[in-house]
Amino acid sequence: MRIGILTSGGDCAGLNAVIRAVVLRAIHGYGFEVVGIHEATEGLLRRPLAYTPLAPEDVQDILATGGTILRTTNRGNPFAYPMPDGGRRDRSAEVLEGYRMLGLDALIGVGGDGSLQILRELARRGGWNLVGIPKTIDNDVAPTERAVGYSTAVMVATEALDRLRVTAASHNRVMVLEVMGRDAGHIALTAGLAGGADVILIPEIPYDIDKVCARIEERRRSGRPASLVVVAESVPSPAGAVSTYQDAHGQTRYGGIGRVIADEIAHRTGAETRVTVLGHIQRGGSPVPLDRVLASAFGVYAVDLVAQGRFDRMVAWQNRRVVDVPLEQATAGACRVDPDDPLVHTARGLGISFGDR
Ligand code: F6P
Repeated sequence: MRIGILTSGGDCAGLNAVIRAVVLRAIHGYGFEVVGIHEATEGLLRRPLAYTPLAPEDVQDILATGGTILRTTNRGNPFAYPMPDGGRRDRSAEVLEGYRMLGLDALIGVGGDGSLQILRELARRGGWNLVGIPKTIDNDVAPTERAVGYSTAVMVATEALDRLRVTAASHNRVMVLEVMGRDAGHIALTAGLAGGADVILIPEIPYDIDKVCARIEERRRSGRPASLVVVAESVPSPAGAVSTYQDAHGQTRYGGIGRVIADEIAHRTGAETRVTVLGHIQRGGSPVPLDRVLASAFGVYAVDLVAQGRFDRMVAWQNRRVVDVPLEQATAGACRVDPDDPLVHTARGLGISFGDR
């Protein structure tokens, strides 16, 4: 069998560990041939095609490295491909033709919900044998408790809070940390808990800025003038506006709510505030052990699915083991924080405010 692998969407820590596991399992376990397609489906659009045959020696040193040796993109949806004139064009037929030219028997696609949705539609049209592996720092792919990259992002955000606490305490400041997560508050919630935040603002729990400020003032009155606030990037402002910006290519991205919250707190309480926007630091760097293990388990299992001829499936982590689920479940929409999640309960139990009570 000749199988392909590609990474799609935003990079994150652990992608190389997935590639390594796929190559080792496919070649040592089954004697398959493995081809790495460059930059998601871009490699199938290019002529000549952009891909690399992958051998065990190509992946022997990549387990602990960040990024993806195959490179990736989150701008190349072939059904609405961005053209130089600013318009969009359906280039899916070229991708399907590229896939046929490569002569693959199966494809392992590593991506978040958006990428997996695109790949699934291509697979449906082109008759591809597709297996999906979930990766995203946002951890919003519904059927898996954990996606590759999430644990590392949480570790980075937690470390940032640990550092910010020192400056908050030294200067009696309120330090606001804005973290990624797209429409979900998983990173903010988990890092906020792990990093000892005093206030966690996530899009799933509507907040009242007066309650946030009341918590900060209450802390000051009790002799704790420093506070740590972690805010997820998609949290709306007190007036209900979502902070976004357009990049030079016209893509809309979240960003800026940290500043809004910090200014509101400063104006209402008189506290000195500072903002840190953690940004892409959450995505790069060496994967933490949990991401390496998850990536390895997913890679091995995905190749096993290919060998068994079980396609249109996605590997997932559920109840401390790898399972497989219909790929369709992964594309049913972003999985957000449940306001009744046990971690929310834990945070409340520790006295952390979500600004709602
Ligand atoms: O989906 C991963 C993610 O990092 C989101 O948390 C964030 O909103 C977005 O990607 C940023 O995208 P870009 O890398 O295009 O700036």
